[in-house]
Amino acid sequence: MTGKLGLPADLYGRRRADRSMRVLRALIGGTEWIRNYRAGRRHPVTPVDRDLAVLVDEVREVAADVVALRLRAAGGGPLPAWQPGAHVDVLLPSGRMRQYSLCGDPADRGHYRIAVRRLADGGGGSREVHGLRPGDRLTLRGPRNAFPFATAERYLFLAGGIGITPILPMVRAAAARGADWRLVHTGRTRESMPFAAELARLDPQRVWIRPDTEYGIPASGAELLEHAPSGASVYCCGPVPMITGVRIDLPGADVGALHFERFSEPPVTGGAAFGVQLARSGIDLQVPADRSALSVIRERLPQVAYSCRQGFCGTCRVRVLSGEVEHRDHVLTDEEREQEMMICVSRSAGGRVRLDL
Ligand code: FES
Repeated sequence: MTGKLGLPADLYGRRRADRSMRVLRALIGGTEWIRNYRAGRRHPVTPVDRDLAVLVDEVREVAADVVALRLRAAGGGPLPAWQPGAHVDVLLPSGRMRQYSLCGDPADRGHYRIAVRRLADGGGGSREVHGLRPGDRLTLRGPRNAFPFATAERYLFLAGGIGITPILPMVRAAAARGADWRLVHTGRTRESMPFAAELARLDPQRVWIRPDTEYGIPASGAELLEHAPSGASVYCCGPVPMITGVRIDLPGADVGALHFERFSEPPVTGGAAFGVQLARSGIDLQVPADRSALSVIRERLPQVAYSCRQGFCGTCRVRVLSGEVEHRDHVLTDEEREQEMMICVSRSAGGRVRLDL
């Protein structure tokens, strides 16, 4: 979810101020893994190219400015299986492509469910989703899973606002397995926090709903981590400041591995502006120092596919026809780097690249 000027909005839909972005850049530093922070592992994500035609089956408001869409296969029959943490690419009628976590029941092969917060200053995708009605047709790609849920005995789930979407199926799976789990759901106000009714049906001893307005300030990382059962695996999805707070306070907490997912594009650090020529489209573009080639290219070619936007899934791979590349990805081999680049993170080393797009 990226706001105008390339500044990502947070999951509550607020535009982040320049100063906080500077602090964020200082905290995040250069290229890094944002998942499996402590475990130091990465999970390969298999790109899924099949197109799935689906129909909107139901649209339901699940919080202020948040709708949940139930989808079914346009031709009837079962939808592909998925696991908690999975997402789908949604090709909207305008041609915009957006990614949304699946937040329904993986055992229900007849339906998918996604939930979307309307972002007034976003790129228009969420507003378009909010205009969808039952019977509207969409195309999906996936599901694929960049936030896999691993078996453990104890869990702490942390969800910020709409970040509850990948977490909700994880919580249900943990509860079904008989694991020891806690969930903290944060948000600006109680009314803005989706799926309150469903969360209320979970074990109330294990769920803490924490709206900022009722506590005065957003929760610190330490406050969130306090709720972890000893040695728990931590799964966190929320706005960048929430994830950053948890990461900072993690070393002092009695927890296991941290797994986290953020939806907004990570800030570009140490980048210089460069030119991109799209050979097949005949388009010349300028990529500013603080934006990715992917985000600039998608303004003209919204169908260009992407997934993680962090250089590890392989979805945005593009053939380079000419120009030297500063590779910042984590998937290409040295041999592949001779001919290809991941446009979500990699940049030109010589001021200009020509791409097979
Ligand atoms: S979108 Fe995943 S590597 Fe670029």
